[in-house]
Amino acid sequence: MEIKKICVLGAGIMGAGIAQVSAQAGFDVVIRDMEDRFVENGLTTIKSNLDRAVSKGKLDRGGADAVLNRISGTTDLTKAASEADLVIEAIIEVMDVKRQVFQDLDNICKKETLLATNTSGLSITEMAAVTQRTDKVIGMHFFNPVPVMKLVELIRGFTTSDDTLNMAWEFVEKIDKTPIEVKEAPGFAVNRILVPMINEAVFALAEGVASADDIDKSMMLGPTTRSVRWRWLTWWAWTPFCSCWKDFTGNWEKTNTGRRRCCANGAGRLSGPQKRQGIL
Ligand SMILES: NC(=O)c1ccc[n+]([C@@H]2O[C@H](COP(=O)([O-])OP(=O)(O)OC[C@H]3O[C@@H](n4cnc5c(N)ncnc54)[C@H](O)[C@@H]3O)[C@@H](O)[C@H]2O)c1
Repeated sequence: MEIKKICVLGAGIMGAGIAQVSAQAGFDVVIRDMEDRFVENGLTTIKSNLDRAVSKGKLDRGGADAVLNRISGTTDLTKAASEADLVIEAIIEVMDVKRQVFQDLDNICKKETLLATNTSGLSITEMAAVTQRTDKVIGMHFFNPVPVMKLVELIRGFTTSDDTLNMAWEFVEKIDKTPIEVKEAPGFAVNRILVPMINEAVFALAEGVASADDIDKSMMLGPTTRSVRWRWLTWWAWTPFCSCWKDFTGNWEKTNTGRRRCCANGAGRLSGPQKRQGIL
């Protein structure tokens, strides 16, 4: 099957970006959200992104209009998904809601349609399990902002077929992104590595190892590239309203210091092996 028509579920931050890059690559896209105002917001975001690209000379007006003409919006799931070759789900990060959507999609979509989820960390296998096409369900994890970020993690659930992976891979390359293949595991690849590193930066700050500015500099000028935006991390760690942290097993722990803590067993700072147990 050749992928031509894309359905994107959710017109939020990620859905709008995914719809935009897909239409820019020449795919017909229908974007679906729960209410007209959410659909309109998504379309307005895409239009202003394209206007900005035109004003910067990266795209001509005709090109931007052509992209917009390839995108339509609706609140009707059947209308959005029944003709799609690939559905990319980018709705709220709640397993029960996603599973319901996958069950509905399984009834609505053509039998050969691929179902992808942009989940940040939920189980692909668990979503696939509610469908009759467990081989055609895959994780397609984009990064924010989608029009800018090149990487897409393709996550295989236990039942995802090679064909599905190959078709998803081809699609990601066509939208000018770089795919990587990742096994299903908490945090997938990027967040598994990134989140402990973020925690460690906060611990280093808390222990007075270095100032916030110097930690920013250490990461921006040292081991990682300048595209890693460390500056927001220290803000994120110290703002008073950040008073809880969701651990790798999905529990929230309140901290009485107002700082986020890695708390896989609720005991505060963990040793290396304990941390690993928390994320495995
Ligand atoms: N924001 C990020 O940086 C980021 C990065 C990678 C992955 N993700 C993942 O992408 C997904 C979407 O995140 P977001 O940041 O775009 O969220 P968002 O809140 O900006 O958008 C979610 C949209 O989904 C809509 N929605 C909710 N239930 C729906 C349903 N049943 N059908 C259709 N639309 C529905 C909401 O109305 C909302 O407009 C989540 O799974 C998130 O974990 C987010």
